[in-house]
Amino acid sequence: MTTAATSPVSKTKSANSSSSSPSKRIFNFSAGPAVLPEEVLHQCQQDIWNIFDSGIGIMEHSHRGPVFDRVIDEAKADCRQIANISDDYEVLFLQGGATLQFAMIPMNFLSPETTADYPDTGVWTTKAIKEAKLFGKVNVAFEGSKVGYAYTPSDSEIKQTPGAVYMHYCSNNTIYGTRYPKMPSSNSPLICDTSSEMFSRPIDINKHAMIYAGAQKNLGPSGVVLVIMRKDLIAKGKKNLASILSYDNHAKNDSRLNTPNSFGIYVIGQVFKWILKQGGLTAIEKRNADKAKLIYDAIDNSGGFYKGVARPDSRSHMNVTFRTASEELDKKFIAGAAKLEMDGLKGHRDAGGMRASIYNAFPLQGCKVLADYMKDFASKNG
Ligand SMILES: Cc1ncc(COP(=O)(O)O)c(C=O)c1O
Repeated sequence: MTTAATSPVSKTKSANSSSSSPSKRIFNFSAGPAVLPEEVLHQCQQDIWNIFDSGIGIMEHSHRGPVFDRVIDEAKADCRQIANISDDYEVLFLQGGATLQFAMIPMNFLSPETTADYPDTGVWTTKAIKEAKLFGKVNVAFEGSKVGYAYTPSDSEIKQTPGAVYMHYCSNNTIYGTRYPKMPSSNSPLICDTSSEMFSRPIDINKHAMIYAGAQKNLGPSGVVLVIMRKDLIAKGKKNLASILSYDNHAKNDSRLNTPNSFGIYVIGQVFKWILKQGGLTAIEKRNADKAKLIYDAIDNSGGFYKGVARPDSRSHMNVTFRTASEELDKKFIAGAAKLEMDGLKGHRDAGGMRASIYNAFPLQGCKVLADYMKDFASKNG
């Protein structure tokens, strides 16, 4: 069996490694913060010390100086190129993670006399619904809790409200490992939390009024959230808000209303360059599908030893969730995987079992190692 120790990943030595810094990396299946591209990490090592030959590291530069101007301008331009984002949209880098967006969206656009639609497909949409109820009427347009959050709804299963001010959905449900195979249709402006699959497959920006993603899965460090928002929606935001909670203020100040997470934005910019180098979203989607197939095949060909949590037509390509017949066996599986240098496979406490998070930067080799281990474990414990 191949292990992490024999993979090309583990052989990569960091550019600046000293005798005390560990050079070996293992397979990191963490749901987030999660694996980043090795090339990006190496570039970060250099730029933390001295970026663009300025003699100053990226974290030490003023957020209003020419070096950071270049960093944020390139990040926005690359983001636009990746997803073909037109001038009708703003690209913003905000703080507070995706969770602040759960509150900021209704705070800006929902009122006691208006309704927003929220299909509930898991823990993160449930949290978003809770926040929205503080500001206005919420129609839970699909109740995923009734089906154990095992799948995402088809258009006909989503009960929309005529005249809703927006519909909010989560394209990939990190905890249960489900995704919308195709984006839902909506009669109202569509808002998507795509935190756990941002830029893992092509996304039709023009069909959305807003897309947001906490960075720590596919984009960079935690804390930053990428927001892509149509300008006409921004203009509809309430005017009597605290300045830091208004999208309009953030847009007018080029994401620099106050001191932004400049390092986080820099890393995201590097990840965007890496995505472009990989061939963009179509190439990334294909690689992710190949990676996910290896693990789903190991589930499906196990003769029932492993059970997938998600209904097959809703299976996520980012978070693969599965269980054995008992919690004891799940624990044994996770302990055995750790010995083979596979980390982060324990499922979320709400879903149990195992979860393999295999974001864009996670190597194909790691999926092969896991699939081999799954076969081996099933044959010894079945
Ligand atoms: C789909 C989704 N939305 C929102 C969040 C919350 O993100 P944050 O911790 O950045 O607030 C997460 C975190 O895992 C997530 O997976």
